[in-house]
Amino acid sequence: MYKIVRKEVLNSQVKLMDIYAPAIAKKAQPGQFIILRVYDGGERIPLTIADYDREKGTVTIIYQEVGKTTKLLGTLNEGDSILDFVGPLGVASHLDGLKKVAVIGGGLGTAIAFPQAKELHNLGAEVHSIIGFRNKDLIILEKEVAAVSDKVFVTTDDGSNGNKGFVTDVLKNLIEEGNQYDLVIAIGPLIMMKVVCDLTKKYGIKTIVSMNPVMIDGTGMCGGCRVTVGGETKFACVDGPDFDGHLIDFDEAMRRQRMYKEHEKLSEEKHECRMGGALNG
Ligand code: FES
Repeated sequence: MYKIVRKEVLNSQVKLMDIYAPAIAKKAQPGQFIILRVYDGGERIPLTIADYDREKGTVTIIYQEVGKTTKLLGTLNEGDSILDFVGPLGVASHLDGLKKVAVIGGGLGTAIAFPQAKELHNLGAEVHSIIGFRNKDLIILEKEVAAVSDKVFVTTDDGSNGNKGFVTDVLKNLIEEGNQYDLVIAIGPLIMMKVVCDLTKKYGIKTIVSMNPVMIDGTGMCGGCRVTVGGETKFACVDGPDFDGHLIDFDEAMRRQRMYKEHEKLSEEKHECRMGGALNG
């Protein structure tokens, strides 16, 4: 069992938890993820490692309550435990030797971009972070990202934080102002990563994205997490989740995501029926 040692509500949909898992905290690197199972017989869900503290032996996860398991996880509190917590999985990000990097986080993707920005900052790179949200109430990790960035820009789609626009608008301005990036890291909704990649392709800037398809076993066996990269089939769980964004077939990834969303909705409806039945006796 893995104990929840800290729980924080970041916004109405997003929660943070520190889980006591010293063996994982010891080996975790930015870009990697864990798979957890809340209870015996429950589904396995992958979550990116948002942070880790090797001394305290904790691993931080940040999740949005979108499906039945994340909603159930959200009902647990400090002192409660999770049944399984497996990792670190996936290939760590390669961030050595970079001088200037733009790190882009869209919505919950900011939680995945944050450890990369932090690692780059620790390695001495100049970090320009651009994080975007639908509105000001959904902004997360602004202070944390700012603490590891040389410049930080926070945009909202509706302008409710006083900075209306999309992350790509800011990135385009920064590039046109003469900032020469060795790398752009873009993590967020598929459509956001696709638009960033379309932009950086024009300027010839290498761009890494983090793919977050549905994962089942997390070990390269089931094929659930396959993505097409440069015309080849790759598995996000063992070959990624980071990939060269200019080689990803985003249209196919979006089609697959839509297909899984239907299944997830059905599964959630069934779960709510069962929960309702249990609660009503
Ligand atoms: Fe099964 Fe990646 S999750 S192959």
